[in-house]
Amino acid sequence: MLKNSELFDSVFSIKRNTYKVSSRISIVAGCWLALSLPISLFGQTSQSRAEYLRYTEAQPILEALVEALPADLKRLNPDELAKAWPNWIRGRDSEIRARLAQGDEDSLVNFLLFGTSYTQRPRVTIKEIAEIRGDGALTSGARVVPVIQGRVDDLIRDLGAAGKNERLLFARNVLLTQKGHTLTTTQDRARLKNYLLTSVVRNLREQASYVKAVESARLLGDPTEEFAERSRVFRTRGLSSDTSLLPNLALEESLKAIRTRGLLTAISVRRVAIVGPGLDFTDKQEGYDFYPQQTIQPFAIVDTLLRLGLASPDVLQVTTFDLSPRVNHHLALAQQRARHGQRYVVQLPRDLQAQWKPEAIGYWKQFGDQIGTAVSPVNLPANAGDLKIRAVSIRPSIATRITPVDLNIVLQHMDLPTAERFDLIIATNIFIYYDTFEQSLALANVEHMLRPGGIMLSNNALLELPFSRVRSVDYLTVVYSDRPDDGDHIVWYQRLPD
Ligand SMILES: C[S@@+](CC[C@H](N)C(=O)[O-])C[C@H]1O[C@@H](n2cnc3c(N)ncnc32)[C@H](O)[C@@H]1O
Repeated sequence: MLKNSELFDSVFSIKRNTYKVSSRISIVAGCWLALSLPISLFGQTSQSRAEYLRYTEAQPILEALVEALPADLKRLNPDELAKAWPNWIRGRDSEIRARLAQGDEDSLVNFLLFGTSYTQRPRVTIKEIAEIRGDGALTSGARVVPVIQGRVDDLIRDLGAAGKNERLLFARNVLLTQKGHTLTTTQDRARLKNYLLTSVVRNLREQASYVKAVESARLLGDPTEEFAERSRVFRTRGLSSDTSLLPNLALEESLKAIRTRGLLTAISVRRVAIVGPGLDFTDKQEGYDFYPQQTIQPFAIVDTLLRLGLASPDVLQVTTFDLSPRVNHHLALAQQRARHGQRYVVQLPRDLQAQWKPEAIGYWKQFGDQIGTAVSPVNLPANAGDLKIRAVSIRPSIATRITPVDLNIVLQHMDLPTAERFDLIIATNIFIYYDTFEQSLALANVEHMLRPGGIMLSNNALLELPFSRVRSVDYLTVVYSDRPDDGDHIVWYQRLPD
């Protein structure tokens, strides 16, 4: 375990109009830069409806963070703020949810760069991306440029005959239905090609700007400031659904240490919430499209809780909170299918070039032994790269315990009686998409739903305002490979009593 004691000794100051607050923050290195059913299917009953944060609940945050407020709130006096709040929060909810469309386009760019189901061309590598990312242009003469252009041609060719390829169907929906492109004439296709190449360039430029922001944060020479900056680096980015296996290793290691410390005891976790479970579309270098879209984290957490004896399979209930209809639909379908006895199969690819640490390989080998059985994985396509893959078929009794709820954690929570609050909330790679004000609202929503003594684990840094009843107690750093920056700091937050 790597630990940097400096992180928790540091102090984060916020200047306010009247006085200055110094409060310790929890920190994170975060995620490295590295697609509807009716609402009733999302497990929403009258008891479990998402509620907006009320003005009186948000007021202390609005007062403490005057200088960090969005412009449309900043110019209002307290009376005006109180009146404007109900409309503002609904409007902001729509704006946040609108960021999903941009995230869908980013997923399409990743499908273009890394997909293997519609093309024989090699996947683009991170090294090749780094070579052209400098100026974010596709005119650099780098060898990968014709590969990307060829991949765009292949995708456009197959869009007309998507068949049952769910990712191509998604691409059709985004490009043809939502964006209004057509495939009828040569000019239509040329226009679409130009649009896709422009999207790739935009995406590469954005990635370059995130890398730059993280480098600038590093130059600050203050680990706390660096982690705080890293933890909101995607605040203007589209909301992506991407997910991968290894953050769950860092969560397992954290829960192991938390059990040893007695912060959670044997069989004490009855209710767990996963904020933003995600969906593996073809995102990032670890993402592939030669198996059906899948979610990993809800299953990984159940697997871990059972392995560590922190939960009993008979009573454990898992709630997922996500604002993505695509993610919620996927989970609702999994739960529905499990009720009819169907098993959920997770494919677990491992890139042999990634030089995982033995702990990561051990976790990959062990994944699922508490919740299912190892089965034959799907066949690897020739252009997938140097991979090993295993697959786990998960018992229906596990997926029936996972209930998806449509909820925007920044602005909403479920009003739960104390006895029904969560013992554990997991939120990795979520808060990084928001700024300090929105993160603080999110923490207030978490506070509403966590039982006193309950734990939230996140790999993003959150400002702890003095009145917050959710406080960081420690953190754990887990490194996944020898590649630079390949790991996560998991911050342990605990809910204080009322
Ligand atoms: C990058 S994925 C992370 C997936 C997974 N937690 C992991 O670490 O691999 C972000 C997920 O959070 C969801 N999300 C983003 N903003 C959210 C919000 N305000 N409320 C609820 N879910 C959100 C996205 O739809 C997506 O499922």
